[in-house]
Amino acid sequence: MTHDQKNILSVRDMSHEEIDVLLSVAAKFDQSEFTGHELDGKILAVLFFEPSTRTRMSFSSAMMRLGGQILNFGSVAASSVVKGETLSDTIRVTSGYADAIVLRHPKEGAARLASEIAAVPVINGGDGAGQHPSQTLQDLFTIRKSMQLENIDVGVQGDLRYGRTVHSLANALTKYDNIRLHTIAPEGLELPNYLRQDLTDAGMEVIAHESIEEIISALDVLYVTRLQRERFPDPAAFASFAATYRITSALLARAKPSMIILHPLPRVDEIDPAVDALPCAKYFQQAHYGVSVRMAMLHEVMRP
Ligand code: NCD
Repeated sequence: MTHDQKNILSVRDMSHEEIDVLLSVAAKFDQSEFTGHELDGKILAVLFFEPSTRTRMSFSSAMMRLGGQILNFGSVAASSVVKGETLSDTIRVTSGYADAIVLRHPKEGAARLASEIAAVPVINGGDGAGQHPSQTLQDLFTIRKSMQLENIDVGVQGDLRYGRTVHSLANALTKYDNIRLHTIAPEGLELPNYLRQDLTDAGMEVIAHESIEEIISALDVLYVTRLQRERFPDPAAFASFAATYRITSALLARAKPSMIILHPLPRVDEIDPAVDALPCAKYFQQAHYGVSVRMAMLHEVMRP
């Protein structure tokens, strides 16, 4: 880091208070309390080395809504990466073209490395199986719309080994009082041991379940994720996990009426589309909140 820049790399670096401030600013922006000129004249470089729909587009929309402009790196195939350019060189150069960088990269730690090189703030748009802070803030924002962020039972289901959204969310939830984390994963895709340790060291109760049926009736939030196909070292191993879990209306009949279902999206086949019409299905709403939350993040790192 070359000067006192405000990066957003991981929720682990953020205090409960810092998270709450960002969520409050996001709530204002969600109520259209902005002039559209907050980031006039600013440029955001959007560097995505992995596929993305929501994160890329919601960061872009957020920047434009605040009056700023976007400089898009485009696809890796159309960049100098194919000529052999290193991430460090790409970041060093791009940081002279923009006022902030949002980076998504398949390697864990890429955003932190970028922040050490860049002369402008760096926001982590997802680093491998590591962290995804903008998604986590959006998840917390969505939960807070329905309930208090304390003394609740949160179930996380799916690919807990490779899914960064769950890793990031779990870290954030340790900052709130009395959250119990219930994990439901196919065998072999459980939470990594280092993370489980990290969470329990932070005082969180983490309970592993064999099946969703045994815990569904106790949950306040059910967070479902897809298998992270691209992170499986072996396609045959991926095939053996495909379609091993699916949320259906029949299962949800046993849930508390107040329980909400979140999913960072994209959904593949983990949630039956018939569930979309139920009041507990909040995942599309969650995706919409992504713009206000990212407006708050961009405002935080680039405001004068
Ligand atoms: C997530 C991601 O990229 O980690 N997507 C997103 O940003 N909403 C989840 C996923 O790809 O499964």
